[in-house]
Amino acid sequence: MYLEDIQSRRFIVDCIDGATGMLALPDNSIKLIYGSPPYPNAERNYGIWRSEEYIERMTPFIDAAKLKLRDDGFIVINVKACRDKHKGNMNTTRSLVIEKLAIMMEEHWGLHCVDIEIWVKENPVSTGLRVACQDAYEQNLWFAKSNPWKINLDAIRRPYSEATLKIYENSEYKPRKNGLTYVRKRKRISPHPLGALPQNVIKGAVSSKQGKHQAVQPGYLPQKYILATTDEDDLVVDPWMGTGTTGVEALKLGRLFIGFDIMKEYVLTAEERLSEVLRETLQKGK
Ligand SMILES: C[S@@+](CC[C@H](N)C(=O)[O-])C[C@H]1O[C@@H](n2cnc3c(N)ncnc32)[C@H](O)[C@@H]1O
Repeated sequence: MYLEDIQSRRFIVDCIDGATGMLALPDNSIKLIYGSPPYPNAERNYGIWRSEEYIERMTPFIDAAKLKLRDDGFIVINVKACRDKHKGNMNTTRSLVIEKLAIMMEEHWGLHCVDIEIWVKENPVSTGLRVACQDAYEQNLWFAKSNPWKINLDAIRRPYSEATLKIYENSEYKPRKNGLTYVRKRKRISPHPLGALPQNVIKGAVSSKQGKHQAVQPGYLPQKYILATTDEDDLVVDPWMGTGTTGVEALKLGRLFIGFDIMKEYVLTAEERLSEVLRETLQKGK
């Protein structure tokens, strides 16, 4: 139902449960699902997904993803681990439900783990926790529907650090004396013209609030995966779109976007943001 006029509209947002929304799309139609579901145990105005029921909550979304992703498609879930309630006088323990989800994505849903990337937050919100170190990272569970998969690493290369460039300039690689193959003859390595290989760690600041939303994420997160896994006019879907950050990045890069959220006010904000981006990109294209 959603795909009839997506080519001309470029984006569609709807106030509906994300799994139900995805099921209304044709099978094998989505190139990338990127999204950030409610985090386990986080108390938000859109409710709490408790760690004990987290897998159950996620199940309809991964079921739908499996059906609706193209065979060459990907799913990336941005999520933060939680701590479980303490029992008696014991300390709270770090919940492993995210790791359980990742294992199930492979073992139960038959998806293929490209990587579990780490987003290191340069300005994490401080907590009162005194039984472990401050929580300063989130995980991006990156899975492919098929193996072999194809990702465009060149699109996400990064600038070389000065230190690396110096090493390249000054070092010569020589064959090892013990005869094991490392380099066959003396050679220098020159930097790749498009930049250094991307890393599986993303470092950056947490976004400021967007209107009433409590968990807006910075555009550089979805942007990385959109660049690496999609081409122009491919369909990107965010089943928990919030204020539409994934859509903003998708439209800026010439991709099609469909987003779902159960909160009317976020869907309205997303609609406004995306209309604005579309106007700007169309103007630039003229
Ligand atoms: C962590 S936030 C995502 C924020 C988003 N990435 C952004 O930048 O604004 C989780 C979102 O999931 C939405 N949500 C909760 N249950 C949902 C459901 N069943 N279907 C779709 N969205 C849901 C919430 O309303 C919330 O906006």
